[in-house]
This record gives sequence, C-alpha cells and structure tokens, in this order.
Amino acid sequence: MAKKNKRLLITTGGGDCPGLNAVIRGLCKRAQHEGGWTILGSVEAYTGVLKDPIEVVELTNEKIAGIHVKGGTILRSTTKGGPFTWPVLNPDGTWVAVDRSDELIKRLKDLKIDAVVSIGGDGSQKISQKLFEKGVNIVGVPKTIDNDLSSTDFSFGFQTAVQIATDSFDKIVTTSESHNRVIIIEVMGRNAGWIALYTAVAGGAEVCLIPEIPYDINEVVRRIENRYVNGRGFANIVVAEGARPVEGTVVARKSDETGYENLRLGGIAHQLTHQMKGAGCKADIREAVLGHVQRGGSPNAFDRVLALQFGVKAFEMVLAKEFGKLVTYKNNDIVTVPIKNAIAKYNYVNPKSYLVKAAKGLGISFGN
Ligand code: F6P
Repeated sequence: MAKKNKRLLITTGGGDCPGLNAVIRGLCKRAQHEGGWTILGSVEAYTGVLKDPIEVVELTNEKIAGIHVKGGTILRSTTKGGPFTWPVLNPDGTWVAVDRSDELIKRLKDLKIDAVVSIGGDGSQKISQKLFEKGVNIVGVPKTIDNDLSSTDFSFGFQTAVQIATDSFDKIVTTSESHNRVIIIEVMGRNAGWIALYTAVAGGAEVCLIPEIPYDINEVVRRIENRYVNGRGFANIVVAEGARPVEGTVVARKSDETGYENLRLGGIAHQLTHQMKGAGCKADIREAVLGHVQRGGSPNAFDRVLALQFGVKAFEMVLAKEFGKLVTYKNNDIVTVPIKNAIAKYNYVNPKSYLVKAAKGLGISFGN
C-alpha cells in the first residue's frame, strides 16, 4: 500500500533574525530525504492560516534553494499578536485582542496538517505551548538575536548580531580616536546584555552597560575621564538598550502600532549623554544607535550551521512525535527540552560569570 503523504507546516514568528531561512532549508532537505512529506509555510507566522483567503505556500525545492545564505525569512514574520491575541481594530483607533485559536486549529485540520514547526522567540514559543495544550502536534525552534532563551546555550542570529556590532565598533574606534571623542554605541538585546557584553569584549570598549548590572553614572564618568590627558584621549562605550542607572528605569515607550504588545526599547545612548554631561564629563560625546542593522543580512557560518542543525532536528522530532518540545543547543550538542520549561525563565548575563570577570580584567567598567 502506498505511504500516506503527510503535511508539515512551518511558521516564522516575532522579530526576524539571521538564520531563519537556514532552519527552513534544513528541515525541508531532511524531509526530502525521508520522503512522503509535503512541507508548507504559513506566511507571516499564523496570519497566513487565519486570513481569507489563506496564504500558505508549498516549500518546494525551488523555493528553498540557496536560502540558508539569505537574511530575514522567506515566509515573512510579524510581531503583532497571534492566534490567542489576534488584534482587531476598533473604529476609534483602539484595538482589542481576540482569541482565534480554535479557528486556527480547525483551519489546520482542514489543511490536513499533521504537524507544525514554529520558529520563534519566547512570545512565539508561549503560543506553541498553548497550542500544544490544545492538542496541536507542535515542535518549537528557538530564534533570537538577544540570546535570552534559557534552554539553549546560543540561539542562531546572536553570533551574527555580535559580529555586525563588533564590525561597527571597529569602525567607530578610528573616528572617536581621531576626534578625542567618547562614542556611545547602543545595541539591541531587550532585557539581556549579551550583545553588549560580547561586543564590548570583542571590540575593546572602556565601558559596557548592561541591564543585569545597573550603573552609577559617576563611575562611568570617572572611567572616561581617566582616558584623557591634557584634553587628549578617546573612549568607547557599549550600552545595551535595556541598561538602566541604579536609580532609574529602562528607556522604553508603548507602541501605538495595532497589535504590538511589547514595549519598544531604545534611546538609552541619548539619555546617557545627558547623564554624563550632568555628572561633569567634559569630553565631546557622540551616539551611534545600531538598531535593526544588527538583525539584517546574511547569517555567519556559526549561525548557519546551528540553524541548519535545528531544522534537521525539528523534522526528526516530528518523525519521533516529540511534540511540545523545543530543539536546543546545549554543551555542543543538539538536544530537546519541553517548551514549557524553556519559556519558564530567561537567560540573562550572570554578573558573577567568568565572562564578566574577564571583561573587568580587561579594564572594562560596568559602571558599578
Ligand atoms: O528581540 C529582538 C529585537 O531586535 C530586540 O533586540 C529589540 O528590542 C526588538 O527586537 C525590536 O523589535 P521591533 O523590530 O519590533 O522594533
């Protein structure tokens, strides 16, 4: 009797990240070897399944050829809502969140989907867990440049983001040195300081400010002033977007975009300039906010290799019916953990870790 053709649906949700396409390719390639599977992709996370007409594409060999080199996601993505908090705009411009999860599940059945692989960060994996609890055969693949998922030593995209930030840092050093300036480089990471810490160490910053170690502005200024003799000198500060002073809060604002629930971080570099001036810093200061450039472009080799492995493993988890689980990278191995454990806590920089100690040993001040 002919083997029944099975159908797997991939989604990419949340902020894009270098390596998403590599996961898609890894999964599709492994499925081709297995045979008997049709791999589909929902456009813009679950939106493709929930919209009318639906937007679900077949990921043929032609569609996935060479995509591991490409940044972003060929399936597109969204950070606005999901099946449990589907944003519906009111006539007055406000919006409400509507639960469309039952409808999603019905549509998945109508599409004859046997399994779903959700590639996404903590928000997407919280959705995965809820769908799993409602009976969906789902496997999660962690992605984020922030590296803040506790279950995996690294998420793909992080190393690429660090490389982009480090390349920018190297370019900034030559100009801060030429002009006797302090240049503050603001990097992403939400409430985790990983990108900032790695960039500060790789680039050779004087100061690194991260959310996990609230800073004292007087300490920051003291370290900077040390760098100047007779008005000559320069310094570079790497600040994570989620950093905050000891007595202060994160610089963030609520978004007015329909369906966007997260706080939008950003602006700490500018605030820091004012704080430094207020604390008596005499140096000329400039700010460079790296922003979305950190998420753009081609994944580096490390992230490609990690993402391709995640894709292959995610398919094998489907074959083994390891649903409700997330593929992760632990101790140089690709393993699986229950999604509910993975989303229970975040991965933040431990101020007592050796990397922080080494950074201090290199003369980097955390402003504490
Ligand atoms: O989580 C990834 C990330 O790039 C964060 O570092 C950043 O704070 C956020 O996404 C930006 O989100 P958006 O692209 O929605 O503005």
